[in-house]
Amino acid sequence: MNLTAKQQSMLAGESSFATRKAMEILVALGTIYDAERMIPVSSVQISGVSYDNLGEAGLQFLDEMANGGAQTQVLTTLNPAGMDIENWKVLGISPDFANHQLQVINAFSRMGVITSCTCTPYLSGNLPHFGENIAWAESSAVCFANSVLGARTNREGGPSALAAALTGITPEYGYHLEKNRASTLQFEINTDLSETYRFGALGMVIGRYIEKSGKKHVPFIRNIQAASLEELKSFCASIATFGGTSLFHMEGITPEACQYSPQIDPIPVSEEDIQNVLNEFTQDNSNPVDFVSLGCPHLSIKEISKIAELLRGKKVTKSFWITTSRTTKKIADGMGYSRIIEESGAVFAVDTCCVVAPIQGRFTTLVTDSAKACYYAGSKNHFKAIMMSFENVVSEALR
Ligand code: F3S
Repeated sequence: MNLTAKQQSMLAGESSFATRKAMEILVALGTIYDAERMIPVSSVQISGVSYDNLGEAGLQFLDEMANGGAQTQVLTTLNPAGMDIENWKVLGISPDFANHQLQVINAFSRMGVITSCTCTPYLSGNLPHFGENIAWAESSAVCFANSVLGARTNREGGPSALAAALTGITPEYGYHLEKNRASTLQFEINTDLSETYRFGALGMVIGRYIEKSGKKHVPFIRNIQAASLEELKSFCASIATFGGTSLFHMEGITPEACQYSPQIDPIPVSEEDIQNVLNEFTQDNSNPVDFVSLGCPHLSIKEISKIAELLRGKKVTKSFWITTSRTTKKIADGMGYSRIIEESGAVFAVDTCCVVAPIQGRFTTLVTDSAKACYYAGSKNHFKAIMMSFENVVSEALR
């Protein structure tokens, strides 16, 4: 790789131990992917924040970096942690886990990372613009940033995102390059789509097709009439989970679609395809529902206002987690939505979510509107998962 004099000096350890480590990670990555040079990034989002995933080795690495002079060079935010940083006791988190999780947050904070733990950083002040090079790690956020915002990022791992944050650069390869952003498959949607759970189902259908192809694809999706921010974030989470997709184009909706409309036969997606995947997550009577959650990806203020409207004056009968960022929760506090929600018995699980919190064994059956949460409910926590519309999820919590 061609490194500038400044980058060579960082690699030689002339700034700090942590900068040298960061440069080693970036140069190794650039070498693997044949990058010719490093490019500046203006925004970073780091994953691997939950102590449940990091473990002791991960915490030690972060501590070593913080003690070794690590300091962020660009705006850097965090993915969800394993607990609500302030109200972890309400979520039944053990003091031992909380102690370790707080040490992780503390290490990031010492490095200058903004410890807003959210997978929707674009709703909390980390909002890159079209064409901006960034280094984000959370798969749903990467897909949203590339596709909906038109920013440019590969899907970073936790260490490579941290390395980009500490140096302000990343190797130029993958989705930073124009040539890799062109559509390689086309899907035509022959059914009406609305609501987050149906967009999640569409992400499953397309994601699985891509996964089966054994190749990395950039799908072009046509014939969707409209999609809200909430529907797009649900779709991004799902297609990234089921297809490993980091970039798609949606005709008339995403900013690069007009540039990359492909001349290839479309693959039709029917209502039957959508129903088939929804049928995988339907209710049966084998286990009663004992856990309800909304907020994968983290809820927008519009979604929280809807929950408040549906819960006003009512009482929930099951554990109901509302997962969002602390910033969005603060707006909900100011609007009085939080009081209505908490009076119903539902709880805010801020900074975390039903996937990254250490809750294996606590519940048996999860109800949610999120295809991604359903996937991980089964594979990570061994819960049965049921997917339904946003409104029906709230009704289930009240039933
Ligand atoms: Fe976010 Fe957790 Fe879902 S990190 S995308 S809420 S699995």
